[in-house]
Amino acid sequence: MKIYQGIVITLEVIVLIIKMYATWFYSIYKFFVPPEPKSVKGEIILITGAGHGMGREMALSFAKLGGTVICVDINPTGNQETVDMIKENKGKAHSYLCDVTSRTSINEMAEKIRKEVGDVTMLINNAGVMPCKPLLQTGEKEIRIAFEVNCLAHLWTLQAFLPAMMERNHGHIVAMSSMAGVIGLRNLVPYCGTKFAVRGMMEAIHEELREDPKDYSGIKLTCICPYIVDTGLCKNPKIKFPSLLKILTPQEAVENIVDAVRRDYQEITIPSSLYYINQMFRIFPRSVPLHIKDFLDSGLEAQ
Ligand SMILES: NC(=O)c1ccc[n+]([C@@H]2O[C@H](COP(=O)([O-])OP(=O)(O)OC[C@H]3O[C@@H](n4cnc5c(N)ncnc54)[C@H](O)[C@@H]3O)[C@@H](O)[C@H]2O)c1
Repeated sequence: MKIYQGIVITLEVIVLIIKMYATWFYSIYKFFVPPEPKSVKGEIILITGAGHGMGREMALSFAKLGGTVICVDINPTGNQETVDMIKENKGKAHSYLCDVTSRTSINEMAEKIRKEVGDVTMLINNAGVMPCKPLLQTGEKEIRIAFEVNCLAHLWTLQAFLPAMMERNHGHIVAMSSMAGVIGLRNLVPYCGTKFAVRGMMEAIHEELREDPKDYSGIKLTCICPYIVDTGLCKNPKIKFPSLLKILTPQEAVENIVDAVRRDYQEITIPSSLYYINQMFRIFPRSVPLHIKDFLDSGLEAQ
């Protein structure tokens, strides 16, 4: 019996090693020959925080590509402006006002959208807030709101829109994390907490779908980690070497986001070089990446 178990485990380890190498070589191949971008024509794409910044730019881009865009924001003026801009370009867009911190409002909105437009096939959790100051100067309300908007709202929208995607085994969930969800930064303690959490939630939902006995391979997930984007959200950015790490325009950032979504990438950083720099230096002792961080001397000053 023991010999038999030993043979089975040895075979399993051999299969595991083969799978690991095959996947690794396939990833290298995919790095040089990326997948073709998919079409979003006919998709119903809900974007939270569509009334400003990257949310607005994503709404404009996806509408241009033929998607029906559902713009969601707490700010009625900004949201309507985005819808009007899309309609001026002959795109399809709908405006829904919603404070994404309220689970009840999200569920009511989801019901209305289902009746008035149809099932959402792409969910982009983008709305975000950023308290930017030392932790000890950040009030309880600011901290709670940051977690409610940047993090809990993702769970409420997933619970509202994922079931229809699962029924059809078709859909795409996109979450806005940040480079502040990859590395810890001063003045951003609660914000980093929310953005690290987003990456964790995306990784976990990926596993929940992958390990389910039913086939949910038609539901794709993309987590986005931008550095600093000039939308007004980061009030006091500090960049020592703008040629190495420049502040991106919302249009530049969204070009990368739309490309990543259309190629079904699971996680990207913007700029992409930061992903490799981070992975490379994480294998060194903790103080090595800190020296690099000090040398780059970039981040956000307190508001
Ligand atoms: N700007 C950056 O440098 C940067 C970098 C990395 C990640 N991000 C993330 O990208 C996302 C978009 O950022 P942005 O810079 O475009 O922000 P932005 O401030 O330009 O836009 C955010 C939008 O979210 C909306 N919003 C805020 N609270 C809401 C609520 N409770 N309910 C509904 N809508 C609400 C706002 O009204 C606004 O229209 C955020 O999640 C942000 O954390 C931004």
